[in-house]
Amino acid sequence: MAATRALSAAWPLSSRLTEAGRLEVGGCDAVGLAEEFGTPVYLLDEDDLRARARAVRAALETRAADGEVLFASKALPVTAVYALMAEEGLSIDVASGGELHMALAAGVDPTRIYLHGNAKDDSELRTAVAAGVGCVVIDNADDLRRLEALAPAAPVRVLLRINPDVAGDTHAAMSTGQGDAKFGVALDDAPALLARLRASDAVVLDGLHVHIGSQLLDLAPFARAAAALAPLGDFGTYDLGGGLGVAYRDGDEPPSLEEWVDAVVGAVHDHLGPDKRILLEPGRALTANAGVTLYRVVTVKPGAPPWVAVDGGMSDNLRPMLYGARYQAEIADRFGGGTPCRLVGKHCESGDVLIEAADLADPRPGEVIALPATGAYGHALANNYNGVPRPPVVLCRDGDARVVVRRETYDDLLRRDVGL
Ligand code: LLP
Repeated sequence: MAATRALSAAWPLSSRLTEAGRLEVGGCDAVGLAEEFGTPVYLLDEDDLRARARAVRAALETRAADGEVLFASKALPVTAVYALMAEEGLSIDVASGGELHMALAAGVDPTRIYLHGNAKDDSELRTAVAAGVGCVVIDNADDLRRLEALAPAAPVRVLLRINPDVAGDTHAAMSTGQGDAKFGVALDDAPALLARLRASDAVVLDGLHVHIGSQLLDLAPFARAAAALAPLGDFGTYDLGGGLGVAYRDGDEPPSLEEWVDAVVGAVHDHLGPDKRILLEPGRALTANAGVTLYRVVTVKPGAPPWVAVDGGMSDNLRPMLYGARYQAEIADRFGGGTPCRLVGKHCESGDVLIEAADLADPRPGEVIALPATGAYGHALANNYNGVPRPPVVLCRDGDARVVVRRETYDDLLRRDVGL
């Protein structure tokens, strides 16, 4: 019998190893779920999602005079998750017309939706205004020009996104606050656009927004970002974005949600004032660790170290390839190591490596592999490379599991293809 041991912060809050050494997520046996729903499959621990949403809300409520937590839905755009986050009292950040469509389909109150995007087109803005979204985050002067052209019946509430010239300490693709980032308005250009926003009949300016980057493990840049906003004037609302990093592997120790909220609220209080309405936009920190991907081993091939190939890969998790993200894996009913190996996918390129240096307990074809911390930007970045259908999303709670996004079929692959 495998020794029972506590699971690290990389795993869902309500996951555990049973005495028989089997992984359970939300009270459901992982190997049983792989049999019931097939593999690959994204599992989500519902209680975990709810607990983290509540924790950020509570942390903000106890520290800020006024505020709101927005779920950055790009991390996990699934209607069940939109609905669940809304049930927990969160507002929703959408980054496109597509995410707006999903949020509305999920029944989210439009007034609790914030529309983001550095290149919002006419139709996205028209749809957002027609739906009555609560706020549009202005990224550039063209956003204002487009909103004015729409001549909304009532002025649209807006925030202005500022490029604070503060880099987040993270992978280059995820740092968004450095001076040459494509997002927001440069500090030097902000006063002119602020004057235009104040003079416009189409909008009501609530305040300023910054988002300096993602998977941030160092909180110091939040204070620098808040300080950068101070010379722009005094505003009622400040949105400091998301960005809190998470644990991907045993031993990773990111700041807690409370430490992050503390740092952000402290930064606003120190540099911008005590009575501000503070908005936060966490995505990854709410969903990453609620998720576990299950795969099945298809083949084990000799090599130095051996290749363990599973039935998914870069079509369901692009993060190792895009960002060099490092994950860990376990055999779902036999945790532990002993066989150093390369965990690879089924796709036709050598870069399809999920874990370069995995350590599994003598993996064999047919066994179920569990990869934790896949709840953020896994499903969101999934694709059909090599005609591989995207996995289902299964919500687990109290021993019950239900599909909230069904598995793609081969027929789905043909659905948009109109032929010669
Ligand atoms: N707010 C804005 C304006 C954002 O652009 C983002 C993320 C967030 C909030 C949420 O950030 P989070 O709390 O999740 O760090 N695909 C990459 C992540 C890109 C994040 C883009 N923006 C990944 O897989 O790591």
